Amino acid sequence: MTSDESVGDLVHYIYASAATEEFTPEELDELLSVARWNNEELGVTGMLLYEKGSFFQILEGRPEVVGPLYEKISADKRHSKLIKLIFEPIEARSFANWSMGRAAVSTKQLSEIEGLNDFFQSGRCFTELDDGRAKKLLQSFKEGRWRAAIGE
Ligand SMILES: Cc1cc2nc3c(=O)[nH]c(=O)nc-3n(C[C@H](O)[C@H](O)[C@H](O)COP(=O)(O)O)c2cc1C
Repeated sequence: MTSDESVGDLVHYIYASAATEEFTPEELDELLSVARWNNEELGVTGMLLYEKGSFFQILEGRPEVVGPLYEKISADKRHSKLIKLIFEPIEARSFANWSMGRAAVSTKQLSEIEGLNDFFQSGRCFTELDDGRAKKLLQSFKEGRWRAAIGE
């Protein structure tokens, strides 16, 4: 998936949203299984975090694919209050091994990230992130933090 890509070919879209209703583990598995199936076809990779009713998602791929996929996801009635955090070109994928990985990371673990301690400790959710904090969260994943906790 990555071998024929050159600089300028790739973007990542990162957003947060609030689930319309709390997801059960089964509902989340179902969502991920559809996402993985579709993303594999589309050449999209990324990560999804779900914690206490809010989502943080990273979508990586070609702009002409990621744009329409984001539009489709934003129209999904299972979540709302979408906040666009980071939409920009990237030089390489950070999550090349995951058509859509899920990181099982707790609020406690999130609040151990340098610079995000106060934010998560005070019980705030992903939709309250700004792009600076989103970059810190992304950086933690890129550095391989919790890599073992990411499931396919
Ligand atoms: C938080 C969230 C993240 C999603 N992520 C993806 C995704 O990465 N890829 C995907 O194809 N669908 C994703 N979906 C589901 C889509 O909105 C849509 O239901 C799914 O793609 C099925 O569309 P289809 O009926 O056109 O195949 C996501 C939905 C939600 C609520």
